Amino acid sequence: ATATRLYHEKVIDHYENPRNVGSFDKNDKNVGTGLVGAPACGDVMKLQIKVDDDGNIIDSCFKTFGCGSAIASSSLATEWVKGRTLDDVVEIKNSDIAKHLSLPPVKLHCSMLAEDAIKAAVKDLKQKNEKA
Ligand code: FES
Ligand code: FES
Repeated sequence: ATATRLYHEKVIDHYENPRNVGSFDKNDKNVGTGLVGAPACGDVMKLQIKVDDDGNIIDSCFKTFGCGSAIASSSLATEWVKGRTLDDVVEIKNSDIAKHLSLPPVKLHCSMLAEDAIKAAVKDLKQKNEKA
């Protein structure tokens, strides 16, 4: 369709075959949940991370109610965070995601959701473990 031609093939791939769609138990002490919304369009992204007892991210999943670029950005984000540390993944920039997916400028806020969701998930995990 004409609309899909605006998207780079990597976006189509992550949109049609999203990696790691799903949910973890948000009450699990090893799970961090980031839930963020985009003021520009009202789309919502939930991204979760799961760590081992040393704080390394061993798994990640997402649910996104949004456009193809937001879905692709969250799919890519779940792939990028796996196997990395919390300090490491908060350095992931939406510009890196947008670049990898070749998102056009009007779609930058979609990748911003993924950056924000990663940071929110890390924050949630840290807060949870401070309380424990
Ligand atoms: Fe998925 Fe590069 S397109 S990791
Ligand atoms: Fe809003 Fe993509 S159009 S997240």
